[in-house]
Amino acid sequence: MEPKLEEMAAFFNARSATYDEVHTGSIDGGPESKAIPALYLPDPCRTLLDLGIGTGLELEAIFRRFPEIRVTGVDVSEEMLRLLVEKYPGRALELHRMSYFDFDFGQAAYDAAVTVMTLHHYTHAVKTALYRRILSALKPGGVYVECDYMIAPGSTPDPQATEDFLFAEYERLKAEQGLDGRREYHFDTPCTVENQLKMLRAAGFQNVREVWRKGDTVTLVAQREA
Ligand SMILES: C[S@@+](CC[C@H](N)C(=O)[O-])C[C@H]1O[C@@H](n2cnc3c(N)ncnc32)[C@H](O)[C@@H]1O
Repeated sequence: MEPKLEEMAAFFNARSATYDEVHTGSIDGGPESKAIPALYLPDPCRTLLDLGIGTGLELEAIFRRFPEIRVTGVDVSEEMLRLLVEKYPGRALELHRMSYFDFDFGQAAYDAAVTVMTLHHYTHAVKTALYRRILSALKPGGVYVECDYMIAPGSTPDPQATEDFLFAEYERLKAEQGLDGRREYHFDTPCTVENQLKMLRAAGFQNVREVWRKGDTVTLVAQREA
C-alpha cells in the first residue's frame, strides 16, 4: 500500500513517545551517530544553533563536552520539544516551535550550528538557501556540522538515480493525495553525499568535508571563513 503522507509536525508529534528508542534503533550508526557532532564543535563553543532539534539526542554528548553551552533550538514538533525540556533540566536552552525556514537566525551570532537527521526531506534549492542563512548566522570561523541520512557512494548501483527517484516519488505521492505543495510532509528524500558537499560549497562554506560515515548515516563538517 502507498504510504499516506503526514505533515511534518503531526508525524513527529504522533511518534515522540517512542522516538528516541525507535529512531536510534533504526538508523545506520545507531546511538553512536548522535555523539559525533559534539566531536567537531570548535573549542570554545559558547553558542549553538540546533535546527530540527527534536528530543535533543545529539545534545547529550554536546553538554558533556560543553556543560555551559547556550543552545538555540528550532523544531516544528511541540511534543518533541516537550520531551527535550524534560530531558535536560538546568541547561541553557532557548527553544522555538516553528519551521527553521521561518526562523530569523540573525547574523554572526553562533560559534556553531548543527542539523541532525532533519534535512533529508528537502530539495537542493531549499537546502542551499538554508545553508546560506546558516553561514551568515555563524561567527567568522564558526563551524556547521550536518549528520544525516544521505545516499553513500556504493550503497546503490546509481546513487544519483536513487536520489532522483525518491524526489519524483515524493512529488507523485503529493499529487496523488491532493496535498498542498507548499506544506512540509514527512517523506525521505536523501541526497547523495557528493551533492551534499556541492550544496555546502555553493552556499559559501569552506573546508567542507566528510568526517564520519556508517552505512547511510553521514557526518559533514563545514566552516565559515575566519
Ligand atoms: C528525525 S528528527 C531528528 C531530531 C534530532 N535532531 C535527532 O537527531 O534525534 C527530525 C526533527 O526535525 C524536525 N523538523 C523537520 N523539518 C523541520 C522544519 N522545517 N523546521 C523545524 N523542524 C523541523 C522534526 O519535527 C523532528 O523533530
